[in-house]
Amino acid sequence: MTVIAIDGPAGAGKSTVAKQVALATGLPYLDTGAMYRCVAHAVMSSGVNTVDAEAVGEIARSARIVVESDRSELNGVDVSQVIRTPEVSSVVSIIAAHSPVRDAMRLQQRRWIDIHGGGVVEGRDIGTVVFPRADLKIFLTASPEVRAERRVSQTGGDVAQIAANIAERDRIDSTREDSPLRPADDAIHVDSSRRTIDEVVNEIVHHFRNVKGHQDNG
Ligand code: DC
Repeated sequence: MTVIAIDGPAGAGKSTVAKQVALATGLPYLDTGAMYRCVAHAVMSSGVNTVDAEAVGEIARSARIVVESDRSELNGVDVSQVIRTPEVSSVVSIIAAHSPVRDAMRLQQRRWIDIHGGGVVEGRDIGTVVFPRADLKIFLTASPEVRAERRVSQTGGDVAQIAANIAERDRIDSTREDSPLRPADDAIHVDSSRRTIDEVVNEIVHHFRNVKGHQDNG
């Protein structure tokens, strides 16, 4: 079963790149951030306090989350658009820091890969914790300015405000105790700041073919 892990901070271009890598390799694509966003949306709709780890964990365990390509469903409802709103973005890192939430999501992510027979998986802890034996691990970064500008061109809004939101999410994601955002020791670092999507995708596909070539010959 083949797994390509693509981790990195918000706005580094993970989704765009991961989808293209999936197309180029014929593997299915899993956006694990969408799963955490579904939980955040469920928590916001429930009125439960976002800092209550046990109550939020219970919501994560009982929510029926279906993520396929760009489409996300929560308890049978299409939430693909609503999970991208600034309201969800501003609380998702808080709920994603709770271990009961992470335990539930890891279980679902591994099950997803079993059912789909592999995939290109993007997130924050894929190469370090969820699939530590992934065939290829990429840590995708870009400068804070580039990341903020990309988000603004996707969703609109004020650059300074979005830059502040990204910086705050990075801070929470990389300082939490449970599976913080960090590169795996054997990850290949790719900086997308000054490169086109095609260049980044080609580099990753090239690394993947190398790895596969070695595996097939070994
Ligand atoms: O990739 P994204 O911006 O949609 O992710 C939303 C949030 O979900 C992110 O701020 C942290 C969390 N997340 C995580 O903790 N672990 C993952 N594997 C994916 C996302």
